[in-house]
Amino acid sequence: MPFSAKVKLWHKVDRSGSHVNLASLLLYIKGGSSIFAGEITGQLIAMENGSNLDTPYALIDGAASESANVFEELQKQYSILADKSLTIEQRLNAFELIIDSEIGDTSLIRAKSLERELSIRQLFLKFEGGNPTGTQKDRIAFAQCQDALRRGFDALTLATCGNYGVACALAAKYAGLKCVIFIPDSYQTKRIDEMQELGAEIRREPGDYEDSVAASQLFAETSDSYDANPGGKNTSLQLRAYGEIAKEIYDELRDAPRIVAAPVSNGTMLAGIYKGFLSLYRRGKTSRMPLIVAGSAFGKNPIILAYLQQKQTCEDLDREQIKETSINEPLVNWHSFDGDLALEGIYGSHGWAANVSDQRMVSLSRLIREKEGLMVLPASTAGLAALLQAPNPGMIQNDRFVVILTSRK
Ligand SMILES: Cc1ncc(COP(=O)(O)O)c(C=O)c1O
Repeated sequence: MPFSAKVKLWHKVDRSGSHVNLASLLLYIKGGSSIFAGEITGQLIAMENGSNLDTPYALIDGAASESANVFEELQKQYSILADKSLTIEQRLNAFELIIDSEIGDTSLIRAKSLERELSIRQLFLKFEGGNPTGTQKDRIAFAQCQDALRRGFDALTLATCGNYGVACALAAKYAGLKCVIFIPDSYQTKRIDEMQELGAEIRREPGDYEDSVAASQLFAETSDSYDANPGGKNTSLQLRAYGEIAKEIYDELRDAPRIVAAPVSNGTMLAGIYKGFLSLYRRGKTSRMPLIVAGSAFGKNPIILAYLQQKQTCEDLDREQIKETSINEPLVNWHSFDGDLALEGIYGSHGWAANVSDQRMVSLSRLIREKEGLMVLPASTAGLAALLQAPNPGMIQNDRFVVILTSRK
């Protein structure tokens, strides 16, 4: 098809009297008896004085981070936070800046090799491993430490099976708060050293996770510490922090996916994601609600069992029957603190929930490493495993599906 193009360089004087260099590209394309003629004109910013190629405008889309050296900028904020002679407003500003630049905004990865292996399309991995301590728990840990700092607390306490403890230890360290962490003495988490290195005080408790939560709640009451446990007064703050995951997925996909699948323990993250999508849908930003799908340790999570028995609320399991393993430890509990909120999301979105064996979690984490090169925590694949147990195979074909994963630490 014959075509010709002409470039015209010219300049004009704008309203303020400044000279502006412009370039026009004139394009003529002839096809049969018709001719297309078009013109594109743009300002020659990078050429204006020969030295401004380094300005952000030299980038095609004008995007640049505010500080060229993010690490240096963060160090500045860390020292402001550590300086207790500064006002609480100054320290809060610094903490907010750290949250803005470091927490969330994790990658959404199209997993094409996994798609071929699993016969599903299009599969996206929301990799929460991009958070500072490698899991989504940083989102709620930093939100609560910010709240604790603002409200004048000196200490924060929580119970954990590992990941949440490291997240809170780091956030508390930056906020200058003492952090007291309760861990069941039977738990095998390898992350205790990290918590201690970050300055947290560790208390090993007899009994299970729920006993550790009770011990931490009692400690909060008697020592006037901030109670960062699930199921307490901070639930709405935690849900909002997790709701950011929904907003980030929407930002990338420009609509809601067909399904979002996630691992559940207390159900807080799943409930937060559901609420985040509900808010986007109510505002008219998405054309639909995603189906919310939950996966957890086989027979050891009240949310999954309530769904499988089609109960509207969670019932506590027999605590004597619940024994965790090193694989399912992050997901096992006999009482899910935010279980009813998670169930509301599953039923409200017409999603589903499924039991997942340790073996399946391990094999899926291996597959993700082989096919996508990501090292993920086996327990975090419970959402993907549940997605693959769709009640009807047609539900997971030819649409967009997002699974939440965390890194292996
Ligand atoms: C890796 C991982 N995924 C998911 C969860 C579940 O989070 P939630 O208690 O909010 O359901 C946990 C909880 O510890 C976790 O460690």
